[in-house]
Amino acid sequence: MANNYMSAITQGVYVIGAEDGNGGKNLMTAAWVTQVSSRPNQVLAAVSAGHYTASLLEENPFFTLSVLGEGQEDVAKICGFKSGRNTDKTQLTACSCKWRELPEIEGAAAVLYCEVKKVIKEGDHVLFIGEVLSGETGGKKPLIYDAKYYFG
Ligand SMILES: Cc1cc2nc3c(=O)[nH]c(=O)nc-3n(C[C@H](O)[C@H](O)[C@H](O)COP(=O)(O)O)c2cc1C
Repeated sequence: MANNYMSAITQGVYVIGAEDGNGGKNLMTAAWVTQVSSRPNQVLAAVSAGHYTASLLEENPFFTLSVLGEGQEDVAKICGFKSGRNTDKTQLTACSCKWRELPEIEGAAAVLYCEVKKVIKEGDHVLFIGEVLSGETGGKKPLIYDAKYYFG
């Protein structure tokens, strides 16, 4: 659990869409996401080393990053408390595959289409730096992460 001072860091709420290269798809909620470059546009996602998503991103470098919008807290919970190792989260939430057969969340504030360019193992997380190849905006206001809402 984060200390109070760590919880004060402001973040959005995102869902990473990944695929194993054989059609196995997964969706994972992440708050530890930030932009790290503008030329080219690049983002960083910190994924716990033990999560299924970390192993998927090491197998297949392409991923979607759905920026959840206000009112999509339920999506964050569905994709953030069960592992894709034993649950097909694409059946539990409204999603579609518009790019490279990767799942993305319907009605998100934006979706970024990314390719992993660098992988850094740091502490208990793996940092995936992805180049943003293209994207779509949905017109919603992005959802702001509130750790207490999800983790008490
Ligand atoms: C709001 C929210 C934010 C989260 N942020 C992250 C994050 O930034 N990095 C991370 O590794 N896990 C994060 N999690 C936890 C994962 O989403 C969760 O452990 C998930 O079940 C892992 O799925 P997977 O095993 O299918 O990859 C978050 C969960 C919630 C509910």
